[in-house]
Amino acid sequence: MKKIFMTLMSVVTIFLMAACGNSDAAQTSNAAQNDKPPQKKILVAFFSATGNTAELAKNLSTVIDADLYEIKPKVEYTSGDLDWHNENSRATVEMKEGNENVRPEIDGTVENFGGYETIIIAYPIWWNTEPRIIDTFLESYDFKGKIVIPVCTSGGSDIQHSEARMKKICPAATWKNGQRFTSHTTQDELKTWFSKL
Ligand SMILES: Cc1cc2nc3c(=O)[nH]c(=O)nc-3n(C[C@H](O)[C@H](O)[C@H](O)COP(=O)(O)O)c2cc1C
Repeated sequence: MKKIFMTLMSVVTIFLMAACGNSDAAQTSNAAQNDKPPQKKILVAFFSATGNTAELAKNLSTVIDADLYEIKPKVEYTSGDLDWHNENSRATVEMKEGNENVRPEIDGTVENFGGYETIIIAYPIWWNTEPRIIDTFLESYDFKGKIVIPVCTSGGSDIQHSEARMKKICPAATWKNGQRFTSHTTQDELKTWFSKL
């Protein structure tokens, strides 16, 4: 009898502990929601296939205290896709003359895009211009009233050609002069650049 009573008490105790645990979790999650800081006013949106631009974008978002958003392709680029020596590789075909309207799909969306005042778009130079997925991004949101600043990494090509293209694709934005960086650009250099904009 004593054994049955003890077993019953254990079951009741476990049940009560579980119930308390859930309510604590609910309270914590409500508190976390209420404590969510207001959104930042600057967004650094980046696309990076091999990591250089990701490094730049992360450093930049840290020094200027911006939110960071990765423009992720629905279908990731493999190293074979990125082979610019191969005229049939995915990236080469996408960037070919005549394929200016190719728009690789993006996986996911920017939360509360409307809340940002400034969007910095970071990308690698592909075939002397911005990858087509950046054009997908520009055509996916309403940029009216937004300040947009392009930044890029590259093996040496400058940003000018991509800037001109992007302005044509997204005339609604207020464009500021872009800048080419490397993944080794220091946080101090990024800070100085941003302060002079
Ligand atoms: C398909 C492809 C085309 C490229 N075309 C150019 C180019 O025209 N000029 C240049 O300077 N670098 C070019 N690059 C080099 C990249 O711009 C450079 O490595 C960049 O930092 C890569 O950034 P990520 O690591 O963020 O993808 C090309 C790279 C790839 C994969």
